[in-house]
Amino acid sequence: MSTKRGNWNSKLGFILAASGSAIGLGNIVFFSSNAYQYGGGAFYLPYFVALFVLGLPIMMMEFGMGTLTGKSFPLALRQLAGKRAEFVGWWSIASAMFITAYYVAILGWAFGMMVGAFGSLFEPGITAPFAPFANPTESASAMVYFFSLLATWWPVVFIFVIWGLNLLILRNGTATIERAVRIFVPLMWLFMIGLVVRGLTLDGGFDGAMYLFTPDLEGIADANVWRGAFSQMFFSLSLGLGTMTAYASYLPKDADQVNNSLLVSFLNCGFEFIAGLAIFSLLFVYALNPAGSTLSLSFFVIPQGINELSTIPWITRLFGFLFFFLIVIAGLTSSISLIEGPAAALIDKLKISRRKALTIIAVPCMIGSVLCTLPIIVDQGLNGNGTLGLSILDITDHWVFSYSLLIVGLVECLAIGWILGADKLRLALNQYARYPLGRWFNVLIKYVIPTLLATVILSSLWEERSALYGSGVDMVGFNWLPLFIPVFWLVVSLGFAYYLTKKPYEA
Ligand code: PFF
Repeated sequence: MSTKRGNWNSKLGFILAASGSAIGLGNIVFFSSNAYQYGGGAFYLPYFVALFVLGLPIMMMEFGMGTLTGKSFPLALRQLAGKRAEFVGWWSIASAMFITAYYVAILGWAFGMMVGAFGSLFEPGITAPFAPFANPTESASAMVYFFSLLATWWPVVFIFVIWGLNLLILRNGTATIERAVRIFVPLMWLFMIGLVVRGLTLDGGFDGAMYLFTPDLEGIADANVWRGAFSQMFFSLSLGLGTMTAYASYLPKDADQVNNSLLVSFLNCGFEFIAGLAIFSLLFVYALNPAGSTLSLSFFVIPQGINELSTIPWITRLFGFLFFFLIVIAGLTSSISLIEGPAAALIDKLKISRRKALTIIAVPCMIGSVLCTLPIIVDQGLNGNGTLGLSILDITDHWVFSYSLLIVGLVECLAIGWILGADKLRLALNQYARYPLGRWFNVLIKYVIPTLLATVILSSLWEERSALYGSGVDMVGFNWLPLFIPVFWLVVSLGFAYYLTKKPYEA
């Protein structure tokens, strides 16, 4: 029954791939720092609202579009809602490529930290600056190690390793993806469960968990908390970037997408919950302060905690290695999906080979990844955005992450809800669903989600009015970046979308 586009071998293969896509840096690195930044318990209500009101229905919609049309995101939108919707599909594909570039850069650093476990990054109580296999000193910390790593060209090498792995896994489409996720996804669950058990059994570990899960009703009046929860949920569930539609398009038409959405969201949020428990218990036991940038939590606060986990060197090292190995494999199963969305879209529309599509994507994205790891130091204090690469990453993430996912979510709801008709999609989904969707689904897609998303997007834009993001940091010689990056992203992504929508297509 395999078609030219390829199919998943089994339903399990699809669930592993889709949940592997969802579970990634978002669940380990971003979730905990967001939850902390927004006040732990205050994050929960917005988070659950985001899951049930936005995340689940949109996942059902994106999965449904894939099985209904058998096509990737832009062409599925074209078939269901016309050419203007296709344009938005291509715009999201361009944004996925921007995100891939920096997502892989972060994975490169994680790989560098993993390598550090063989040197002296993880020694009980002490850490050496990054220099492969250097001797540890009493005064150095994981933060020093991290920034010293960033200030070398080594991450460029690590990025090529991660890109190589991605392309290797993607070379034969579903066949090779399925093989990889069958190994990586169970493995990452195993490691995360190991970490949480160790965290919670530490003296005082439970208090950290309580901080994270004690509801704080005061914080929920803050619009920023809601904005944070909404973007976090979109990113964590891999929505708004064409990924889930591409993966779903490799399923047979009679797949139960209501059930699949429930399963994938549940696995994703379950993993996120466990990761939060593990990380917060470690933070509390060792009184670590996770303030600072998003990356700081995983890249130098947690390693500091790991160094305290045991007085036996090999155990400390093993934990350090496993923590970053976990980030690398969880990230890989997500980055392959970030690349597969654009690959499937280009193959479908331009009828080119997989190899050619992967080359078209990999070349510019690899250049982007390298730019994100430029070691030129622009902030001598080395806090915040110490290196040029880190600044580029941070500003790109600010614009693409905060806006494109939510804008695409908004437009696809309007396109499916009003042009195709939400009821048509609902009935199509219900045809094979064990738990059919009620009319509430139409109300969510047509009214509730667009209203919520439009409010969040407009309020974010309003907040931007006072100063361009990133312009407060004095990056000697590079102060043009905060303006250049958003303009570059918009011009390139909209141009790309225009060009590909215009290209003639015969089904
Ligand atoms: N969901 C992934 C994570 O949480 O890290 C990131 C991601 C992958 C987002 C694929 C979007 C996507 F299409």
